[in-house]
Amino acid sequence: MEKVRFDFERVFNDVVGQYGIGRDELESTLDKLVDCYRDLVRRHEENELGFMKLPYENFSHLERIASIMRERYSQLILVGIGGSSLGVEAVLNAIFYRQNSNFVVFDNVDPIKFDRLIRHIDFVNACIVVVSKSGTTLETIANFNLIYRIFENVFKEDFSDRIVVITDPVKGPLRKFALSKGLKCFDVPPNVGGRFSVLSAVGIFPFYFMGLDVDSMLKGAKSAITELEGVNKKHPSFMLAAIYYLLYKKGMNINVYMTYIESMEKFVDWFRQLWAESLGKDGKGQTPVKAIGTVDQHSQIQLYNDGPRDKVVTFIVPERSLVDFTIRDPLLEDFKYLNGKSLGNILVASYEGTRDAMTERGIPNATLYLSNIDEEVFGYLFMVYEIAVALSGYLYGVNPFDQPGVERGKEITRSRLSI
Ligand code: PA5
Repeated sequence: MEKVRFDFERVFNDVVGQYGIGRDELESTLDKLVDCYRDLVRRHEENELGFMKLPYENFSHLERIASIMRERYSQLILVGIGGSSLGVEAVLNAIFYRQNSNFVVFDNVDPIKFDRLIRHIDFVNACIVVVSKSGTTLETIANFNLIYRIFENVFKEDFSDRIVVITDPVKGPLRKFALSKGLKCFDVPPNVGGRFSVLSAVGIFPFYFMGLDVDSMLKGAKSAITELEGVNKKHPSFMLAAIYYLLYKKGMNINVYMTYIESMEKFVDWFRQLWAESLGKDGKGQTPVKAIGTVDQHSQIQLYNDGPRDKVVTFIVPERSLVDFTIRDPLLEDFKYLNGKSLGNILVASYEGTRDAMTERGIPNATLYLSNIDEEVFGYLFMVYEIAVALSGYLYGVNPFDQPGVERGKEITRSRLSI
């Protein structure tokens, strides 16, 4: 896709030295992935998996209901956590960056956060979308419970019209509750895991409600799939899976995503969940870490450059400035070189400085260049990374679609609360 470009040149050992990977080993890992990809497609054909089918679904029922609700309500309260909120936040935070308060997410159960958020709800104009694939997530149920009761107090009469529930088509207590109250309900397909679900009703309904171009997003996701037709081994999904895996085998067990586009911060959060929860299994896994450029140059770079040799860094960088501000007549004598330079110039030069210093130090690094931040780009990136993590599962020898390691903590939490 033209708006997205990956540069992997600085991960090779002939560029960064001993901590990089060999071009030959990359080739043979990419070869291995061909069969893995075929297996992934087969599992979709047999309906064991569903995330790659989502871009081809018909979502017109969601569009219709969302547009009716948009006419009535202007504020969206999203209640959900993890895969049930991060993808939506990634898109909305980037597209409406610091410009839209008509979208509020209740994910955590931090009472201070709840207190601050609830004060910003414009109840008359608000509707609630509660998302939980399982319908059993403690945080989501607790937040929904509190908000529901507040709505009851505010409205006194029936407000079921203001609620949309997105959950398993049959199972779970949330579906049961929704049915008992006659609430509008949409499905999370059972063969699509939470962190792979952003292109299902989980994301698509809120995106329609917020007036986004969903067709473009689905087009972007489809192009990530069609670019793979005939099995293109240089496809970013193949490259990401193979390169990060080979680096992991060389001891790079930390995968830093450093975004020089601050509005992509939530996208990194989405990636962080996808990478950690999918691959962190059986004593294996690569810890994803978020960093913000240039801010973390003044916080993390000392460690990255001079600390343990256990990191691969991927930068997210604008290919061109979408908006810019130029400095004229510098105030300080020592900064005369800034005359005619823009914030965008400073940002890109800072990225280049950080990247080149890291490369000199032999730290493997890659760059994801974005020439636009729009629905099509997000659709493409979501699908590229979802396929990449699915392929990585084959390389690591783990099942990327489950998360058994989170269950025990949930059990203990439940028993504490039941006392
Ligand atoms: O990827 C996953 O399955 C999880 O991270 C879930 O998205 C998260 O735990 C929320 O689960 P649920 O949608 O069932 O409330």
